[in-house]
Amino acid sequence: MTQSPVTVTVTGAAGQIGYALLFRIASGQLIDSRTPVKLRLLEIPQAVKAAEGTAMELDDCAFPLLESIEVTDDATKAFDGTNVGLLVGARPRAQGMERGDLLEANGGIFKPQGEALNAGAADDVRVLVVGNPANTNALIAQAHAPDVPAERFTAMTRLDHNRALSQLAHKLGVSVTDIKKMTIWGNHSATQYPDLFHTEVGGKIAAEQVEQSWLADEFIPTVAKRGAAIIEARGASSAASAANAAVDHVHTWVNGTADGDWTSMGIPSDGSYGVPEGLISSFPVTCSNGKYEIVQGLEIDEFSRQRIDASVNELAEERDTVRQLGLV
Ligand code: NAD
Ligand code: LMR
Repeated sequence: MTQSPVTVTVTGAAGQIGYALLFRIASGQLIDSRTPVKLRLLEIPQAVKAAEGTAMELDDCAFPLLESIEVTDDATKAFDGTNVGLLVGARPRAQGMERGDLLEANGGIFKPQGEALNAGAADDVRVLVVGNPANTNALIAQAHAPDVPAERFTAMTRLDHNRALSQLAHKLGVSVTDIKKMTIWGNHSATQYPDLFHTEVGGKIAAEQVEQSWLADEFIPTVAKRGAAIIEARGASSAASAANAAVDHVHTWVNGTADGDWTSMGIPSDGSYGVPEGLISSFPVTCSNGKYEIVQGLEIDEFSRQRIDASVNELAEERDTVRQLGLV
């Protein structure tokens, strides 16, 4: 049976992540290996030519599932009928820029993109914001798409989740597939909290299998500051691993989490775990039938509480800043 195609819009398509992401999508890794893909590449006018070059390369791969590629600098066209919006393009922090300036500059990108999603996206649209500051950019886009269900706007913390899996696997000398129920809480920033108190390795709690000093002084800062460490080493921010995490995020959202496991997604809070309703914060979630649900009933001890609160407070401050700027 022929599947109907999925329309996937990628913003910042000519950027580093775009280059690592588009070929994965076109080869069928985002949804599944049966669903044809229509790609929409959104760029700013100066980068349209480069995006067209990437489109030529996509063409040259002769991907069986790739039905069409359109390149545009018009957000309305790019999001018309889109089923999956991957919002990657964002304004990077320039030297001397304050957090408020950065949020304002990104408001200029995510507000019109939210409006374009509202105007034309398909009824089942799912949005993943990758461009930083991802959680608050997602909040801005969501605020300008009142007709799209709020829960369809998500922010990427899957890269942090994957980083945490690898760090723990190295420490315990196990495979990443032996690790279940990893959680990232909070913001995709250095305040994020990778939680090992509910993570299981071989059916036992991970926090009980590592020294407390490693957990507090090595694991948490290594995961939380990994983005900065990559920038320091590569001279550019993570790209292929970010693209991989974006593919993982959407694939899991659509196809579900495995029994006995969960994942981490930045999603609008419903007030669970004391996270103020509406903030787009990372939670442990299970996915099934194309929907996600926050894992409920986890016990949060004082160590975890303090760290979750610190990251959530940062998100609340970012929200207050964009509120003052009239962006949400
Ligand atoms: P990049 O600078 O290589 O590419 C960004 C692209 O976005 C550029 O081609 C630029 O022209 C385009 N762009 C800018 N404004 C646009 C707009 N209004 N519409 C469409 N396109 C626009 O950056 P990159 O390395 O690809 O990273 C992209 C973003 O992802 C950055 O904000 C980065 O910090 C972030 N990031 C997030 C994570 C995460 O885990 N959430 C991980 C890595 C990187
Ligand atoms: C990452 O986690 O690798 C990025 O968000 C870092 C960055 O600032 O682009």
